Amino acid sequence: MIGGILIIDFGSQYTQLIARRIRALGVYSEIVPFFSAEEAIGRRNPHGLVLSGGPRSVYEEDAPTMDPSLLEGRPVLGICYGHQLMSRLLGGRVTRARAREYGFARLEILDPTGLLRGVGERVWMSHGDVVEEAPEGFKVTARTENTPVAAMEDRKRNWFGVQFHPEVHHTLGGQEVFRNFVDLSGIPRNWELGDFIERKIKEIKETVGDGRVVCALSGGVDSTVAAVLISRAIGDKLHCIFVNNGLLRQGEFEENLRMFREKLHLNVKGVDASLRFLRALEGVRDPEEKRKIIGNLFIEIFEEEAEKIGEVEFLAQGTTYPDVIESAGVKGPAAVIKSHHNVGGLPERMKLKLLEPLRELFKDEVREIGQRLGVDPHFIGKHPFPGPGLAVRIVGEVTPERLRKLREADKILEEEMKREGIYRELWQGFAVLLPLRTVGVMGDERTYEEVIALRLVQSVDGMTADWFYPPRDFLARVSSRIVNEVRGVNRVVLDISSKPPATIEWE
Ligand code: XMP
Repeated sequence: MIGGILIIDFGSQYTQLIARRIRALGVYSEIVPFFSAEEAIGRRNPHGLVLSGGPRSVYEEDAPTMDPSLLEGRPVLGICYGHQLMSRLLGGRVTRARAREYGFARLEILDPTGLLRGVGERVWMSHGDVVEEAPEGFKVTARTENTPVAAMEDRKRNWFGVQFHPEVHHTLGGQEVFRNFVDLSGIPRNWELGDFIERKIKEIKETVGDGRVVCALSGGVDSTVAAVLISRAIGDKLHCIFVNNGLLRQGEFEENLRMFREKLHLNVKGVDASLRFLRALEGVRDPEEKRKIIGNLFIEIFEEEAEKIGEVEFLAQGTTYPDVIESAGVKGPAAVIKSHHNVGGLPERMKLKLLEPLRELFKDEVREIGQRLGVDPHFIGKHPFPGPGLAVRIVGEVTPERLRKLREADKILEEEMKREGIYRELWQGFAVLLPLRTVGVMGDERTYEEVIALRLVQSVDGMTADWFYPPRDFLARVSSRIVNEVRGVNRVVLDISSKPPATIEWE
C-alpha cells in the first residue's frame, strides 16, 4: 500500500493511538522510527506526515530530529514533541516552560475554522517545553495559560502543529484534529477493511502459487483469523496443525478443533501431545525453564507433523502490526522479561518463507476482519491466553491434579464474569493456583489445602495494566463456588497488583 499518512515516531507512548485514529478515518497509516524517516518517505511516498510526541527536549544535544527538507511539499501535522521540533526546524522559538503542564488544560481557541474545528476546550497535555513563537508563515490558533503557541497552522502549505495530544481520549473532540488535517490537506481516504480482504486474498494467491502452506493454530484470535484468510485464498493447500499441549483450558482443545473444522472449514490436524508435555514438565518449578521446555517441545512436535505433509514452502503466522512495531521501535526491542512461546526459530530451521497476512493490522482490525470472515463473535471476544498456557498460572510444579484444580476454578470464574457482565470490560480475568497450602475448616473437619488467586485486569495492549475491582457480590459468588466446587482448594484471594511493577501472568 502506497500513500496514506506516515507517522514519524519520536518515542511517544501514544504513537500507536495516532495510527489507529487515522485509520479509523479511512486513511492508511504506518509508523516508522525517526531515524528511518528519509528512507521510508522515499519508499512510501506518503500523502502526509505526522510527527509524533516524544520524551526529549528539542534543544538537547542529541535530540531526535529529521531533515527539514523532508517536510517540503507535503502536509504535516506535528504533535507535542513533533510540534516543537517542527517549530524549531522552521525557525520558531522553543523554550523551557515556566510550569510543566501535565494532565488536563483549558484550551483557548483563537481560530475555530481550521484544524481546531470541533475540538473542545479540555485537552490533554504532557510537556516541559513550549513553543514561544511560531515560525514565519504560521498563524497561532490556540493557547493555554502556560503555552503561548498551543496550536498553529500554515494553511498555504498545510502545515499544522498542536502542543496537546489529540490522539488520547481525554482530549475532547481530539479525533476532529485528524479529520480536519485530512480534509484540509485533501488526503485521499484509501483504507477500507473490506478492500483489505480482497487485496490480501489476491496477494496470497499470487505469492503462494502452487506451493503449500503450513500454519500452527494456537487457539487464539490472530492465528485463527490468519488461517481463515489464507484458506479463503488457497483452500486446502493450507495445512493447519493444532497441538494440544495439555495446558489449555477445560474442553478447549475439542471445542476449538470442532470450530476449525465444522464452522471455518479449515484443513486442520489435531495432535494430542498432552502426555509428552506433562512428562517433560515433571518436577520443573522454575518459570523460565517451564517456558523453554514448552517452547522447544512445541517446535519439535510441529516439525514432526509438518514433515508428514510433504513439500511445504511457507509458514503462516498471525503476526500483527504491534508485534512488528515492537520489534523495530525507537527504543529497540524491549528487554526480555519473559521468553514468549512462539515459533521463532522455525522458518530458518525448516527453510520456510513467512506468510504473515495480518502484519499491517491492529488487534481491533484483526477482530473486525475475523468477523467479516465469519468467525464466531464469542471466539473473537475471547481474552488473550499465553502460549505456555496454564503452566504459567500454576506456580510451582504442573501436575494433572493441580491442572484439574486450576481448570475447574478458571471455568467458574469465567462463567461468573460473563454472568456479571464484566467479561468484556476486562483485558483478562483468570485464576492462578498458588504453591502453598493453608488451614481451613469445612463442616467440622480441619482442611489443609491449596489457594486460588483471582487475576482481573484492564489494559489496552497488555504492556501496562490496572487491576480491576469487581463488585463485592461477584467476588463472594466466585469465592464460595470455588471453595465448594473445587476439591482441594479452601481459600481464594484477589490479586491487586498493577503492571508494572507486577506482570499480568504470574510466571
Ligand atoms: P505479562 O505476563 O508479560 O503478559 O504481563 C502480557 C500479555 O501477554 C500474554 N502472554 C503471552 N502471550 N505467549 C503469548 O502469546 C506467551 O508466552 C505469553 N506470556 C504472557 C499475557 O497473557 C498478557 O496478555
